[in-house]
Amino acid sequence: MDENRGRTTPEGIRIHEEADFAGMREAGRQVAEILDMLGPLVQPGVTTAEIDDFIREEIGRRGLLSATIGYKGYQHASCISINHVVCHGIPGPKMLAEGDIANIDVTVIVDGWHGDSSRMFTAGKAPRKAERLLEVTHESLMRGLAVVKPGATFGDIGHAIQSYVEAQRMSVVRDFCGHGLGRVFHAAPNVLHYGRPGRGPVLEEGMFFTIEPMVNLGRPETKILADDWTAVTRDKSLSAQYEHSIGVTAEGCEIFTLSPAGRFFHTAG
Ligand code: MF3
Ligand code: CO
Ligand code: CO
Repeated sequence: MDENRGRTTPEGIRIHEEADFAGMREAGRQVAEILDMLGPLVQPGVTTAEIDDFIREEIGRRGLLSATIGYKGYQHASCISINHVVCHGIPGPKMLAEGDIANIDVTVIVDGWHGDSSRMFTAGKAPRKAERLLEVTHESLMRGLAVVKPGATFGDIGHAIQSYVEAQRMSVVRDFCGHGLGRVFHAAPNVLHYGRPGRGPVLEEGMFFTIEPMVNLGRPETKILADDWTAVTRDKSLSAQYEHSIGVTAEGCEIFTLSPAGRFFHTAG
């Protein structure tokens, strides 16, 4: 396979070819199928290490690679971010409790292509305000996806997400963003989940990137814990996130990480 096909925009954004979509489609399907298996595991009393063990083993059973094991020293097959953890929660001995909400974020490499997706799960029944946060966060991702097409800008995506979330009196995290991906895990551009219409690079057919808004019930500020990974809300308010990997097509976008079982958005564990 010729690794130098395609071209790069002046902003450093890779423009992929038609054949590359097939690689991303397979990587996206694999990660979506793995996430589809997790619902029954996410229950009060399970530890996040046990969930991560299952994910690592399932990646192995499928003959795939984890993109996160060994990435900048990270040692796990997933990030599991509970309640006020915004992202990059490290799996460990902590047990889930009734009503906890958890984001599980998995990235696999299939034939060199990266499939990166995350969803929210609940342990037992989450409080009403937590369910509302999950609904708004999922809908914000859908609204971001809805504006993707050649000629739109990355600012249009950010604006669609931010304007919706803030109208619900919730806040968009600024400290983390989506990213280009493909044969590389994290590539240009930074995909901001806030912004102004018409600003930012123009979308072109063949761009591959993630949209992965993090939404807080309280204020948007985050801080990183002493483990150098775990990001939490400064005000300890609940935080949620959904992530898809997509490719820009002539008409809009192809979502590589759609759930084959239709389980991308579900609030029951
Ligand atoms: N999957 C995350 C993302 O959406 C990145 C996790 S990197 C890790 O970009 F090292 F924390 F796993
Ligand atoms: Co990502
Ligand atoms: Co991810």
